[in-house]
Amino acid sequence: MNDTRPGPIYRRLLGYSAEYWPLLVVAVLGMMVSAATEPAFAALMKPLLDGSFVQRDPATLRWVPVALVGVFLARGIATFVTNYLMTRIGRAVIKRLRGEMFSQYLAMPVHFFDRATSGELISKITYDVEQVAEAATKSITILVRDTLTIVGLLAWMFYLSWQMTLGFLVIGPLVTGIVVWVTRRFRRISHHIQGSMGEVTKTTQEAIDGIRVVKIFGGQEHERRHFEAANERNRRLHLKMAVARSATTPIVQLFVALALAGMILFATRQQFHGIITVGTFMSFLTAMLMLLAPIKRLTEINPTIQRGIAAGASIFEILDMPTEVDTGTHEVARARGELEFRHVYFRYAVDEPYVLKDVSFRIAPGETVALVGRSGGGKSTIANLVPRLYDVSAGQVLVDGIPVHEWKLRSLRDQVAYVGQQVTLFNDTIRNNIAYGRLANASEARIIAAAKAAHAWEFIEKLPGGLDTPVGEKGVMLSGGQRQRIAIARALLRDAPLLILDEATAALDSESERAVQLALENLARDRTTLVIAHRLSTIEKADRILVVQDGRIVESGRHGELLARRGSYANLYQLQYGCAARSG
Ligand SMILES: Nc1ncnc2c1ncn2[C@@H]1O[C@H](COP(=O)(O)OP(=O)(O)OP(=O)(O)O)[C@@H](O)[C@H]1O
Ligand SMILES: [Mg+2]
Repeated sequence: MNDTRPGPIYRRLLGYSAEYWPLLVVAVLGMMVSAATEPAFAALMKPLLDGSFVQRDPATLRWVPVALVGVFLARGIATFVTNYLMTRIGRAVIKRLRGEMFSQYLAMPVHFFDRATSGELISKITYDVEQVAEAATKSITILVRDTLTIVGLLAWMFYLSWQMTLGFLVIGPLVTGIVVWVTRRFRRISHHIQGSMGEVTKTTQEAIDGIRVVKIFGGQEHERRHFEAANERNRRLHLKMAVARSATTPIVQLFVALALAGMILFATRQQFHGIITVGTFMSFLTAMLMLLAPIKRLTEINPTIQRGIAAGASIFEILDMPTEVDTGTHEVARARGELEFRHVYFRYAVDEPYVLKDVSFRIAPGETVALVGRSGGGKSTIANLVPRLYDVSAGQVLVDGIPVHEWKLRSLRDQVAYVGQQVTLFNDTIRNNIAYGRLANASEARIIAAAKAAHAWEFIEKLPGGLDTPVGEKGVMLSGGQRQRIAIARALLRDAPLLILDEATAALDSESERAVQLALENLARDRTTLVIAHRLSTIEKADRILVVQDGRIVESGRHGELLARRGSYANLYQLQYGCAARSG
């Protein structure tokens, strides 16, 4: 169960910074020092004015400027240390969270990626992690440093004059209240403004995109009215915002002036009795003004914390998801390559219909079996179950007579070479695309041999960079047929006992087609091959053909036999290749 309450999430996030506690301690010390410098600065005002300017005391004249520099020096060092250490902790937490997320993505079962969009997953690892770190570090700094600053300043103010401080404590919250209220209103209005801007854009876009229909069906008046409404709403909202904005500052200033006037009245009366000097008054005023900034930051911290907690919840939701089940123990260096499906049922989700229904077949080591059938019948799904990209809903898939879930996942997948329906190339060189993953250290000679057998060497050789030519994002720098041959070379280099080949349906020109065909023949030699066939030549060469229809295997046999039977296969064959069924 995933806990989404803020408390536990915040504690868990803090846990990530816990290992940096020595740094945190120093950072908090820094915060204390820089918090202490604020009342210290206000306190300096008193001797500065009373001693230097009023009484012209030579000793004060000398030490006050030195002390002033000292305060700012201490403040500068403390702030630098705090910021540096907090950033260091924050970046370390970000790095660790990102690393954990990335590993988690790699470990998640494939069906997880069917549901989530890559945009969402990328945004979690970039944006959400950043939000979390900001909440964790920025909010700690503000909470600690600004709270201490406020306490220090208030203490100094109380020391100077408890009466004026009490007065401030009444007026202060009032002003803060107004500012908070107005800010909320700003936010609401600007939200509406965004909405109305969206309407303006949408209406314009619709009119532009649909200009032909607008013109022919005489929709101009309708569109104009629509636009006018959005346009007017936008104008009114901006005015509202301007009114709110222009009214706040004078109102706040009026309150401040009132407070100031009250204090001046009070202070001048007291001064009569010699209690409040110029220095005291200015020192008090300075402390008061210095209170504003930390108070403002503290009142604004909550949204940051909330965003951080929401982002943290979204990250932990991912980190807490179960990864691929890998409890099997069977392990061999090289399987014999026998593949069997026993009454396999499969659906992609519990609320979806079965995609495979009672599929059973057996492929002997070294045999080549072709799966054929209409689009959407379940051929690729059958292929996905062998390396356990998905787990069966019922029944069993066995490799060498051992159910796939009893295999150690790594060892099972080592037995499978796979060329998918959509070729996957990484934005890297041809060499690294062929020698990918566990094959990353393959020798140059083996890579070239694989490329040759895949009929890829003939074009690689002609490239200026040879094997080290980059293929571009998703292999855009190569043609469709070249990409396929690279994928085939990758599978050949793997030299696994089980080969799964999901032929691309996309048409290739006849030359590429022939090269790919020859490559595939090389690939299928001496191993158990399950080929999802779209090309007639592949089908005709198969030892056996299984016809998949609506998730069931409806016919099986050799090309000739099946044609003679004049059933589903003969039908399909006629549809696909447009020629009358001929047995032979
Ligand atoms: N990841 C998935 N999540 C949910 N449903 C899926 C998923 N992949 C495939 N399906 C559904 O399963 C059924 C079988 O799909 P499959 O890809 O196995 O067909 P296919 O026989 O390989 O078709 P084609 O010849 O077009 O490649 C289809 O109805 C498809 O909509
Ligand atoms: Mg398919």
